[in-house]
Amino acid sequence: MLNLAKKMEHIEHFHVMKVLQRAKQLEKEGRSIIHMEVGEPDFATPEPIIRAANQALAKGMTKYTPAMGIMPLRKKIASFYQSRYGVNISPQRIIITPGATGGLQLVLAALLNSGDEVLLPDPGYPCNRHYVSLFNALPVALNVDADNNFQPTLDSIKQHWSEKTRILMLASPANPTGSILNLDALKEYAQFINLQAEEEHPAAFIVDEIYHGLTYGAKTDTALSLENHQNLFVINSFSKYFGMTGWRLGWVVAPERYMEALDRLAQNIFLCAPTPSQYAAIAAFDRESIDIMEQRKAAFQKRRDFLLPALKELGFKIPATPDGAFYLYANSQTFSNNSMKLASEILEKTGVAITPGQDFGSNEPDKHVRFAYTTGLNQLEDVVNRLKKYLAP
Ligand SMILES: Cc1ncc(COP(=O)(O)O)c(C=O)c1O
Repeated sequence: MLNLAKKMEHIEHFHVMKVLQRAKQLEKEGRSIIHMEVGEPDFATPEPIIRAANQALAKGMTKYTPAMGIMPLRKKIASFYQSRYGVNISPQRIIITPGATGGLQLVLAALLNSGDEVLLPDPGYPCNRHYVSLFNALPVALNVDADNNFQPTLDSIKQHWSEKTRILMLASPANPTGSILNLDALKEYAQFINLQAEEEHPAAFIVDEIYHGLTYGAKTDTALSLENHQNLFVINSFSKYFGMTGWRLGWVVAPERYMEALDRLAQNIFLCAPTPSQYAAIAAFDRESIDIMEQRKAAFQKRRDFLLPALKELGFKIPATPDGAFYLYANSQTFSNNSMKLASEILEKTGVAITPGQDFGSNEPDKHVRFAYTTGLNQLEDVVNRLKKYLAP
């Protein structure tokens, strides 16, 4: 029998998939299920993007593109940074990837040596620590909590920094907490990393901005507005704000001097991002598409503003208001010290599917659950009524 590679021991299933499976089974049995477990917008891809895809397909745009992606799309992304954030980015620094997933793996593959350490927040997006393991490097958890708005403090970064630290990896807004890093915090981290570089310990700063565009009130700066940062890699995607999860399209903005290596690696590991998706995404920056996306963002904000106080009233604790993404990461200790069991009972008894904290790391996962408000306001009212009946009868 052929054994799997040793690193496979570190790759875990998403617990949420078990919830999803059970929820689907209950649905088949005729139960009414409200899905709040998967991190995917409920809205369909905006019509102008679909139209552009159909046109591209009709014109036969189905062959490979350059590994960096098509230039018209790279240019659109560059002008988006200019119009939205006032930041000037050369299209030559942008590489189109198969989702943020492709971008994260590309950058990690290019930078990590075996035994390197990568600092990551816990709770955080689960795949990141698995990618790190795939490249035989070590994920090092930075525990974050509501007292620090679920982002690591500079002190904790310093504490966990070692000779082997190669990358600091953060997301803003973050999954599962929806927390945002302001420019001052980004600057503070970047200065620390720059200082390390001066002391002969160069490291990279990866900022995942996949939930940009979905922020509610708080000013959101891209890390690309940081001046003079040497080793900054920004990851983004068409999945969330642009509503294109299944099109598998994202991008990386990297320092110019790494582009040749990233091109070489992309040619070898994925050849190119899906061609019809790339042509479709050009239309994502048209006024008509942006208007649709902004309406959707407003709908997400209404949902958050309804659900946040309602969950608190039920007894969930959410002390740091999440300013972005579409998640509420709630402390569920009022009801149970076993969030896996709680999520499963809530599903069985109320038909509401949520994600247990276990998916997001080892920092008090038993005490937390994640609600994705990727369902309409009427449904959310229903959720609150169902939970009320079950949790506070
Ligand atoms: C923080 C974060 N990064 C990356 C991804 C992967 O997204 P994509 O669909 O662009 O590959 C997700 C998906 O949920 C995410 O939450």
